[in-house]
Amino acid sequence: MAFPKNFLWGGAMAANQCEGAFDADGRGLSSCDLLPAAKERFMLSKGELPLSKMDDSYYYPARYGIDFYYHYKEDIALLAEMGFKCLRISIAWTRIFPNGDDEQPNEKGLAFYEDIFKECRKYGIEPLVTMAHFDVPVHCIEKYGSWRDHRMIDFYKRYAQTIFTRYKGLVHYWITFNEINMLLHLPYVGGGIIFEDGENKDQVKYTAAHHQLIASAWATKIAHEIDPENKVGCMLAAGVTYPYTCHPKDVWKAMQEDDKNYFFIDVQVRGEYPGYAKKKLERLGIQLETTEEEKKILKENTVDYVSFSYYASRCASGTEENAEITDGNAFASLKNPYLEASQWGWQIDPLGLRITLNDLYDRYQKPLFIVENGLGAKDVLEDGKIHDEYRIAYLREHIQAMKAAVEEDGVDLIGYTSWGCIDLISASTGEMSKRYGYIYVDRDDAGNGSLKRIKKDSFDWYQKVIASNGEQL
Ligand code: BG6
Repeated sequence: MAFPKNFLWGGAMAANQCEGAFDADGRGLSSCDLLPAAKERFMLSKGELPLSKMDDSYYYPARYGIDFYYHYKEDIALLAEMGFKCLRISIAWTRIFPNGDDEQPNEKGLAFYEDIFKECRKYGIEPLVTMAHFDVPVHCIEKYGSWRDHRMIDFYKRYAQTIFTRYKGLVHYWITFNEINMLLHLPYVGGGIIFEDGENKDQVKYTAAHHQLIASAWATKIAHEIDPENKVGCMLAAGVTYPYTCHPKDVWKAMQEDDKNYFFIDVQVRGEYPGYAKKKLERLGIQLETTEEEKKILKENTVDYVSFSYYASRCASGTEENAEITDGNAFASLKNPYLEASQWGWQIDPLGLRITLNDLYDRYQKPLFIVENGLGAKDVLEDGKIHDEYRIAYLREHIQAMKAAVEEDGVDLIGYTSWGCIDLISASTGEMSKRYGYIYVDRDDAGNGSLKRIKKDSFDWYQKVIASNGEQL
């Protein structure tokens, strides 16, 4: 048998994409609440547009999600029926600290998640909790400029202390920041950053990254102190970069592209900035202020496991200037002529997952956790059913690749939570029609629909996969 008996099969979701109820029970406004499903979304996500430009004539999907806030019991029951061993969710920071810098937490927010975790435990589902999944309190963006300000570390520490204390014994697996490398690609989404005119963007991005890395190390320390059973992971938007050809300049370019992302994980696993990053910052003229205490915190509080999302491999060239570009998980990539792509242009590459797993395991020698993977596709409801064999095919091939990495390559993998196990709002486009789930949610891109939940064909398929511990694909 390829997978250990306690392998964590399950699915993943995030507060900003599923909860809705954005102003219920004292919750404060959060960064994603201000991203409309409109053409401006991309520039806003990059921090290139001031938020004040957005007004109430737009639809803001994160405010409504799939109404998980009021449906979580029903939804968790469905996930349990599929046999989930693990459910990845995120806590909305603004349910706990509505402004981010409050002295006291919001009890109703704390109680909400406590109830979710208890509901999971009722079915033997292990919660895996992301502390910040594209989620920054708007008050902190307006007052401090978000993560470019050092004070954010203290607010995050208070938040960490509060939730680790409250959920002690209920939650053991934590992720400090979702796709921490997203900060470089979509700075508003990853860190609530909105650039000011004339600002040195690299300086801002790396300062914010530095603060998140220190905050992450502090959280790891606090988590271990409060409960030695806690396991804290970093999280990378992964996907190996292939050289476009075997020209050494292409190979070099591909490696540099990967290093941009590995930089974060290198710090979180090894506890210090790698040589190539120090040199790069020097070349860019970037100054990062750090105290000796912070260096020590980074060094002594490295992560317990490395988690990552994988949707597609990437491709880069140092020689070819006219190669076609295609979309990917926030990263545009050269189009790989050997691969098919999803309806959104994300290149489908199961072997790329095996390569990525090997790459990460060779580099870090830490347990790995695939916490996102899946196919965003348009589903058609026919006579009350969804025949999503395309999704099953994508997942089957990726699980086969992951199985090979475990069975044949000896990679230490602790779990697999596919993305958007129940349909939810797309992070990049804000669409509802970009669906990943085993469970269909009747809601359209404009927010209309009954919110009814309907099992897709993939629901039964995944149930068998879990029941057979990945043997029956
Ligand atoms: C990852 C995120 O970037 O990819 C998720 O962690 C996101 O939040 C997922 O939803 C899929 O991307 P999209 O744009 O298809 O929703």
